[in-house]
Amino acid sequence: MIKNVAVVGAGYMGGGIAQSLAINGVDVVMADRDPAITARAFDRLIAETQTLQDQGLVPPGSTEQLAAHLSVADSIAAAVADVDFVEEAVFEDVAVKHAVLAEISAAARPDTVIGSNTSTIPVHVLCTAVQRPERFLIVHWSNPAPFIPGVEIVAGEHTDTSLVAPVKELLERAHHFGAEVADTPGFVLNRLQYALLKEATAIVEEGIATPRDVDTIVSTTFGFRLGFFGPFAIADMAGLDVYRNCFTTFEDAFGERFATPAMLAEQVEAGRLGFKSGAGFTGEHTPEEIERIVAYRSLAYSKFAQLMRELGPSGIWPTSPPRTDSPATTGNAPPTGSPATTATPATTDSAATADTAATADTPATTDSAVGTEGDHS
Ligand SMILES: NC(=O)c1ccc[n+]([C@@H]2O[C@H](COP(=O)([O-])OP(=O)(O)OC[C@H]3O[C@@H](n4cnc5c(N)ncnc54)[C@H](O)[C@@H]3O)[C@@H](O)[C@H]2O)c1
Repeated sequence: MIKNVAVVGAGYMGGGIAQSLAINGVDVVMADRDPAITARAFDRLIAETQTLQDQGLVPPGSTEQLAAHLSVADSIAAAVADVDFVEEAVFEDVAVKHAVLAEISAAARPDTVIGSNTSTIPVHVLCTAVQRPERFLIVHWSNPAPFIPGVEIVAGEHTDTSLVAPVKELLERAHHFGAEVADTPGFVLNRLQYALLKEATAIVEEGIATPRDVDTIVSTTFGFRLGFFGPFAIADMAGLDVYRNCFTTFEDAFGERFATPAMLAEQVEAGRLGFKSGAGFTGEHTPEEIERIVAYRSLAYSKFAQLMRELGPSGIWPTSPPRTDSPATTGNAPPTGSPATTATPATTDSAATADTAATADTPATTDSAVGTEGDHS
């Protein structure tokens, strides 16, 4: 069992990881490149936790727990000298990480497990810096660490896989959970997240929608579901035959990169069409199970819609004055021959989208997000 932890790099992620562990009773010592930075991070975490506690967002007593279980060290060597687990959370730069990991490895006990919070750099690139690659793996938390429960765990070719279980158990003590991912750049989270951003920027560059409308569509439609279900579960619910047909449209428009995935075609050919046939990507489901999952989905979406109404808009997109930057009005027309020239919502609906811009960040004001699950688009 991992009893104590050092976090190296007291920035946004390192601070949040230290906070998550310490408020749940794990002893954590933090170090950055300069003791003054570490000291400032400690004060910031105490103040932030008190604010969250006052707002009822962390349990009562969390600030006291943090103060009791979080400490600072003047150097990386001092921080890591006698801990069971070290989490490295310095800049996302291979050279910086190599230097820091080498320093950690030289000062840590031989049995210490060393993890890195890298977002994208694989184990096989980072592990060359440590003396014992078998004690090294990636433990990738998300931002903001205290609230995002999932953590990617990446064991490399040389990692002793028996380390995964104690790391998962540590995460569970902090009410987080680990999912194992193979050693590949970007792992799963960022590969999917960056693919979405890449396609979103293409949509904007082609003049199909503004960044604001893309954000609205994502957060009020399929993104609304993603807190509860992943893409495979969502596809099963919608119908895999429907998905296959939609891919045909995409492939016609965008070519091979949007061709029907073999995994999907195989399911359809085997008659596994998702919930409608009782089998699909997520396995076999009896009618009773499907009824229970659909009831869970209704409850989850209804409560989520209610939460969105209660919270109101985030304000990240200004609500006034009304937007005047739609692609149609800025002359950011789609390139000739692009898909947008045959399906031009931005050019035909620009007046309507401009009119609704003031409420574009206010999904909570409508009920329309509820009851759209069957819509696979
Ligand atoms: N920001 C995010 O949303 C996010 C999410 C998940 C993972 N990550 C990953 O977490 C890691 C840290 O990112 P961040 O957002 O917390 O960055 P950050 O800039 O907030 O913090 C990095 C910290 O590393 C410290 N540092 C730099 N060089 C150092 C050295 N030689 N020795 C000791 N400390 C040093 C800096 O002083 C700083 O405090 C990166 O690998 C990043 O990819 C970031």
